[in-house]
Amino acid sequence: MRKKIVAGNWKMNKTLSEAKALVAEVMGMISSEVKANTQVVLCVPFPYLVPIKNQLGNSSVITGAQNCSEHDWGAYTGEVSALMLKSMEVPYVILGHSERRQYFGEDGTLLATKVNKALAAERTPIFCCGEALEIREAGTHEKLVKQQVEEALFYLSADDLKKVVIAYEPVWAIGTGKTATAQQAQEMHAVIRKQLASKYGEAVANEISILYGGSVNAKNAAELFACPDVDGGLVGGASLKSREFVDVVKAMK
Ligand code: 13P
Repeated sequence: MRKKIVAGNWKMNKTLSEAKALVAEVMGMISSEVKANTQVVLCVPFPYLVPIKNQLGNSSVITGAQNCSEHDWGAYTGEVSALMLKSMEVPYVILGHSERRQYFGEDGTLLATKVNKALAAERTPIFCCGEALEIREAGTHEKLVKQQVEEALFYLSADDLKKVVIAYEPVWAIGTGKTATAQQAQEMHAVIRKQLASKYGEAVANEISILYGGSVNAKNAAELFACPDVDGGLVGGASLKSREFVDVVKAMK
């Protein structure tokens, strides 16, 4: 059975003391409320990974990074490699978030390399795909998302693909309060799973967790998570508020 995952993407928010306070609140609420089959991940800014990992101790909540380099080591000022994440025992890493694509020019070729580096370092990539509003309005969203998936993932062996988590995040729903409807989310998740099945077979496709991201909150999470091909969420704004985030986690059945 594929894993259910709720991952908070804090993006570039919180001071260290605010971050610790948020984690303390989440931990206080979550132990009794998390279903055994749901993996909760906090994708926090790089400098907070170690302190927050230490704070989480051996709780069921684990850490993720929001990016990693396409290189292993060397003269790449400001970068953090997947091998560094491995050395810090940070299990997850978001790759290809639309903000990275938009503001840092990340494209499919670069992301294929980053996915490869993450897997080589035994980290789990949360690979993001999703269309901008004008693409949705032009009706070419399925084509674009399939292209994003193909460019970054289709060179992988089936065994490696099974180690990847995919997040469908329509750009028009990110930070806008405008969530995709459950029907829109389910449609796109089914398109992605069908695409995976056509290349790797149904058994492999059925093992891949596909998360939805874009204005997920405590009110809409249950309906989104009830969709058969939605295996959890990648949560931005709502992950910055403890009660809201824990309620999103609780919405997972
Ligand atoms: P919001 O939940 O704030 O819309 O952000 C979604 C997101 O980008 C998660 O990666």
